[in-house]
Parts: sequence; C-alpha cells; structure tokens
Amino acid sequence: MEVIIRKDADTGCLLGARIIARYVREKPNCVLGLATGRTPLRLYQELIRMHRDEGLDFSRVTTFNLDEYVGLPATHDQSYRYFMRENLFRHINIDPANTHIPDGTAADLHTECRAYEERIIAAGGIDLQLLGLGRNGHIGFNEPSGSLRSRTWIKILSEQTLQDNSDVFGSRSAMPRHAITMGIGTILDARRCLLLAFGPPKARAVERMIEGPLAAICPASALQLHPRATVVVDEASGSALQFSDHYRWIDANKLPWQRYD
Ligand code: GLP
Repeated sequence: MEVIIRKDADTGCLLGARIIARYVREKPNCVLGLATGRTPLRLYQELIRMHRDEGLDFSRVTTFNLDEYVGLPATHDQSYRYFMRENLFRHINIDPANTHIPDGTAADLHTECRAYEERIIAAGGIDLQLLGLGRNGHIGFNEPSGSLRSRTWIKILSEQTLQDNSDVFGSRSAMPRHAITMGIGTILDARRCLLLAFGPPKARAVERMIEGPLAAICPASALQLHPRATVVVDEASGSALQFSDHYRWIDANKLPWQRYD
C-alpha cells in the first residue's frame, strides 16, 4: 500500500485529481470507478477545472460508481446519480451513456446487482477505482463484518453510517437503510485503487486500514491485499499512524517516475 500524507484535504484532493488526470491522458478510453460523499468533492472540482482550462478529455471515458441507496430515484437530490450529475458529469464532456450507477429502484435488485457486475466485465474491468472511507472503516457501503470477497450486492447500512450520513436527509428516518454497493471483491479487482480520507473523524479508520490486521471488521483493510493501492491522507486523518515517518521517508525517496507532483 502506498501511503501519502499531505498537509490538508485540499492538497490531498489536488494530488488525487492529478493521479486521475494522468490516467485519463495516458488511456483516454479508461474505465474509472467513482465515489460519492464529501471527500471527493474538491477532487471533482479540480477535474472540472482541468477539463475547462487544460482540455482534459472525458469523451471516451467510462465510469462505474461504487454504490447507490435503495429506493431513491435519480431525481432525488440525495441519490448518488443526482450527486454525480451535479458535482461532475454535467460539467465535463463525458457521454452520459457511459456513466453507470447501480439502480436502487430496480424492481429486481438481485438481478440489478448481477447485471452491474456483468457491465463492469463487459467494459473491460475498472482501471482506477476512487474510494472514500467511512468512519467505521467501510468502503463503498461495505459495512464491518461483511465478506472480504463480496461482489455487488444489497447491504444493510450500519447505525454509524446512518448517523454520519443522515444530516443531509434531514432526519435519520428519512434516510434509506439499504444500499447497492460494489463488493470488496469487486473493488479489489480494479487495476488500481485510490482512497482519500481526511480530517480527525477518519483517524481511527485510517490507522486500522493501514496498520491494523487484515480483518472484515475493518473492510478497508482489504486494500492491504491490493497490488496497487494508493492512500492519500492529511495530517489530521493520519494522526494515529504509528509509522508516519516511514511513509514520509518512502514518499521523499521515490524515483522521478514514481512521483505525482
Ligand atoms: C459514504 C459512501 C462512501 C463514502 C463514505 C465517506 O457512506 N457510501 O462511498 O466514501 O461514506 O463519506 P464522506 O466522504 O462524506 O466522509
């Protein structure tokens, strides 16, 4: 796991945007796995800026989002389809037909989950998967104790996640308790993973993900198995790491082609 510590969330997001932009430039028809939540917002703003000012071209890019709430139509302002349209897709030149998000309103959710996996395979697999991190160590909506080999499926959200995400719904009762999410196995199949986690509330989960044992109780720890996972944290979310000097040493001694900035 490549651990990169930056001063704050802003510089961490700019770095994440550079990593994605480089990938898009090198492989214009790449398949990106995307995430929602507060964490990647600044990264998406930077991608939009790069599209506008530097001609970063998304016309041949395909995307697959990690997850979607069950029961929320695309028109609902808290659906992840709505989030992606408002915060990224409508500002860049991506073909909407190439953007995929699980359909949480499908009549047959099981079929939708299996079809989502098939669509990823048909697109050639995910080249780079962007991830955020839940305070309880979840990635996508893979909550603690779920299988580390799971595929896209319907998950029950934990009480912690309901608490963390319900403010935007107005109340806890207004928030769906179920979501479709790529499984941990689906995420690990991506050729590259890029996880961002910032701020003091994420410190414990960051420490468990990077330095804790590989354990289903911290789903993000599964990234320890990934051959090419990059984790970008800031001083605050990295504050509980025991080996931060080691990560900084590695970062400072990278070969020129291993650097992002
Ligand atoms: C949400 C999403 C995750 C996201 C995480 C952190 O519930 N399902 O994909 O990474 O929780 O959210 P935030 O970035 O808002 O802290």
